[in-house]
Amino acid sequence: MTVVWGIVGMLVGVIIAAQLVWPALNFDIPYLHFGRLRPLHTNAVIFAFGGCALMATSLYIVQRTCQARLISDALAAFVFWGWQLVIVLAAVTLPLGLTSSKEYAELEWPIDILITVVWVAYAIVFFGTILKRKTQHIYVANWFFSSFIIAVAILHIFNSLAIPVTLTKSYSIYAGSVDAMVQWWYGHNAVGFFLTAGFLGIMYYFVPKQAERPVYSYRLSVVHFWALIAVYVWAGPHHLHYTTLPDWAQSLGMVMSLILLAPSWGGMINGIMTLSGAWDKLRSDPILKFLIVSLSFYGMSTFEGPMMSIKSVNALSHYTDWTIGHVHSGALGWVAMISIGAMYHLIPILCGKKQGEMYSVKLIDLHFWLSTIGTVLYIASMWVNGLMQGLMWRAVNDDGTLTYSFAEAVEASYPGYVVRFIGGGIFFAGMLVMAYNVWMTTRTEPAPADEQAVPAGGAA
Ligand code: HEM
Ligand code: HEM
Repeated sequence: MTVVWGIVGMLVGVIIAAQLVWPALNFDIPYLHFGRLRPLHTNAVIFAFGGCALMATSLYIVQRTCQARLISDALAAFVFWGWQLVIVLAAVTLPLGLTSSKEYAELEWPIDILITVVWVAYAIVFFGTILKRKTQHIYVANWFFSSFIIAVAILHIFNSLAIPVTLTKSYSIYAGSVDAMVQWWYGHNAVGFFLTAGFLGIMYYFVPKQAERPVYSYRLSVVHFWALIAVYVWAGPHHLHYTTLPDWAQSLGMVMSLILLAPSWGGMINGIMTLSGAWDKLRSDPILKFLIVSLSFYGMSTFEGPMMSIKSVNALSHYTDWTIGHVHSGALGWVAMISIGAMYHLIPILCGKKQGEMYSVKLIDLHFWLSTIGTVLYIASMWVNGLMQGLMWRAVNDDGTLTYSFAEAVEASYPGYVVRFIGGGIFFAGMLVMAYNVWMTTRTEPAPADEQAVPAGGAA
């Protein structure tokens, strides 16, 4: 389902990217309006694609690293089907315009309750398996997954507190600046724990496995884990610069975001350096390419984020496409690419084959290049657009009037939107190549031991 929801979510992404170039593409049908499809896109890629990748990998990794079976197959099946139900309900309600209007938490209260039930079941399966482990040590990937599961539960419950009016309408219990602060405490930590800590858990298992090397520094992995989770929770106010939020809170958010660079880069360096002495494997193993390039994008976006949180930089970047570029350097470059790499490693194993033994290595390589080129086109066009928009909006004439009207800035953004549409389309095409490769892998017999299709870490 990770692959399926990846395709669905990214297709909606390509559609809304096209709508920003050709607005008529909503065909005047309310269900296809940009304002309704946009949250459908974000929910589908983050919670359906990302969520399935996280659940699948965490429940696999916890068994391998604890040398224990899941505590309950039935509960795990409940988690799977329950999560699919949440996704389907999101896909129905969002185009209908049923929304709480809180970004990344748009789903209405009955679905929120279902999410809580499924999440608690997920936590029971995960932590229950850790409790019955046969190893003494808890491998670091599980620490990252644990923090992700606990933090997301707390964030979801407190941010979603609302008073229901009807089955499909509720009002948040928070108001004004408090509402904004709770929302971005949630929103930022959704990035920190859902889109970062969980995927670092994936990284700490699959990079060493695919490279056939131990983690570069286990000590660093533990230090940067504690530093990361301790600092992330304070950084939310950087989403609310120059608002009614008290100034001290904005500055605190900025300082914590700058500090966040250190633990983030600790993770990136640890992941990339795991390849020490085995760099040659990058030449022949496209799965490793996915994993290592995703870490490079992680490093890039976690450098860019702290810069954007500086108030004077944010004065330029906020409201512009720069934010969208930043989001997708993390989302496409880091989250999607590490998930794709992990899936190519995992799917053959789940089909009874060797790790990485996909139907076609050439197609994985093709997918890698489509993803990389698509991501670069997407983020470069948004950086150009963002800087241009920010500068055009603040340009003033000698007499103090604005140099450009808003519509002029929109018109100037047009080429960037076309390039983003092309880049997104290329990334999406890569997902279709993946779907074909996965389909064929499930249908072919495992190769004899001496003719393994994909080398583990490159050795053909
Ligand atoms: C083919 C790939 C993709 C395309 C074409 C695409 C396109 C888009 C577009 C056009 C927007 C709206 C931008 C705007 O309002 O100006 C958007 C927003 C967003 N997308 Fe994507 N996207 C893709 C993949 C992804 C993935 C894989 C993720 C996450 C894992 C993601 C996460 C987001 C988020 C979080 C936003 C909201 C950003 C914000 O509010 O600042 N996207 N995307
Ligand atoms: C050290 C790490 C990071 C810091 C300090 C950081 C900081 C920021 C800042 C300052 C903004 C702009 C806020 C605004 O002007 O409204 C932002 C937006 C965003 N970032 Fe990051 N970022 C980091 C890493 C990441 C990563 C790795 C991802 C994705 C995987 C990500 C996803 C997002 C999203 C989705 C938004 C848009 C939120 C919205 O307005 O809808 N960030 N980030």
